[in-house]
Amino acid sequence: MSMVHHGFLSLLVRLALGGSVLFCPWVMAQSQKAESSSAVIDTLTKEFEGAFPQNITPKDSIREFDLVAAPGIWGIIPPYRTDVWAYNQQIPGPVFRIRLGETVKVQFTNRLPQPTTIHWHGVRVPNAMDGVPGVTQPPIRSGERFTYQFTPKDPGTFWFHPHVNAAKQVERGLHGVLIVEDPGEPRYSQDLVLVLDDWLLEPDGAIRDRFVTRHDLAHDGRWGNVPTVNGRLRPSFSVRAGERIRIRMINVANGRVFAPLFPGLSPQVIAVDGMLTAAPFPLQRFNLAPGNRIDLDLIIPDTAQGTVLPLVDTFTRNRFPLTSFEVEPGTAVETPRFQTPQAAHFPDWGKAAEAPVAHEYLFDAVRGGPYGIAWRINGQAWPDSTETELKSGRFHRLRLTNESSRLHPMHLHGQFFRLLARDGKPVDERFWRDTILIGPEESVDIGLVPLDKGRWANHCHILEHAEAGMMSVVRVK
Ligand code: C2O
Ligand code: CU
Repeated sequence: MSMVHHGFLSLLVRLALGGSVLFCPWVMAQSQKAESSSAVIDTLTKEFEGAFPQNITPKDSIREFDLVAAPGIWGIIPPYRTDVWAYNQQIPGPVFRIRLGETVKVQFTNRLPQPTTIHWHGVRVPNAMDGVPGVTQPPIRSGERFTYQFTPKDPGTFWFHPHVNAAKQVERGLHGVLIVEDPGEPRYSQDLVLVLDDWLLEPDGAIRDRFVTRHDLAHDGRWGNVPTVNGRLRPSFSVRAGERIRIRMINVANGRVFAPLFPGLSPQVIAVDGMLTAAPFPLQRFNLAPGNRIDLDLIIPDTAQGTVLPLVDTFTRNRFPLTSFEVEPGTAVETPRFQTPQAAHFPDWGKAAEAPVAHEYLFDAVRGGPYGIAWRINGQAWPDSTETELKSGRFHRLRLTNESSRLHPMHLHGQFFRLLARDGKPVDERFWRDTILIGPEESVDIGLVPLDKGRWANHCHILEHAEAGMMSVVRVK
């Protein structure tokens, strides 16, 4: 005993003497490790350079749009008339199309009977335009106006929706589309936006008027009984053989995950969450979780003339049709030829697993809170929350660990990240995301180089889970 003490004391004495610290093998190993992990982070940061821009120089043109959120009526399944909340009296809301470099100026009016805000999902906006109440702006009260103005830095498919009482406001119909066109991108025969949604309707066509229920919270949020595309049950689109179509699919549902498939066809995925992929890849099984987008490059085959090509959902065991493409007979056109677009630069990040995990976020649920069940991040339910910090312009590896048996599509505002691993096994996803679906008891590692400074929401895009606490803030400094 006294020998042990003696030895320990003498080690302390030697450490205190300074010089001998250099010879302590344990200290050496630690500092070497620290050095090499910062060297790894340097490499990963360097590899990222040129993937997407820090800034954009706005052109001289400002595109002004009026946007009004108000109660309205919509025929989801005619002849039923459903009371909805809508942007500009239409579902989905308007599609704002601009060109890269143009500035969006949205004069927004809230005619809802409650406060709201607009979040521009996936767009790297200045933090003050991000639409998160209590984080980036106060809620816009009923009858009030607010102007959103920003210059998107990335071309692609984005969407917008309220961030106040979102589980109810988005479900009632508030969502719209923002498309940023790149003047350099090829011309497709058609550019089709397909907004996928999922409504929970009563037999008379009314929206079931109970939101954020215990059932929703104990499951994967609110799943409905009427899937829609562009606000209608199973609409059809008319196409011609030979056409090359860019399809932009957006999942605006509160909880339902779609896995869209064109049986017998093999469209290429060219963009995910707005950003071009490193290379196109065939659409086989892609889980389009709430918040996610995919852009497809689809050629209608010559042999399809006069047929109907369905788009089906394959996420659950019961496949169901979402929409169909009716191919006009005898009107084949010549297929536009061009190289499928892809990202100009995509980082290799082969060493990402060697970077230390900067932060881990644990997700679980407990009884309690205003809804009876609270969903938590690191043991806290929003608005109880501790901010985490990231350094702008530096690579970070983050770990998101689902300690529950439910699904969580986690969405980080203002940033794009890349999936690195699932349950510690490397995953070579060669595209960016802003939302990642995490399965039951699953842990994922993501990598990112945050560029845009500010306080950014980090939350589950199952809007019921978010409403019941599953949100935190990441500060990029
Ligand atoms: Cu589309 Cu904060 O989310
Ligand atoms: Cu969730």
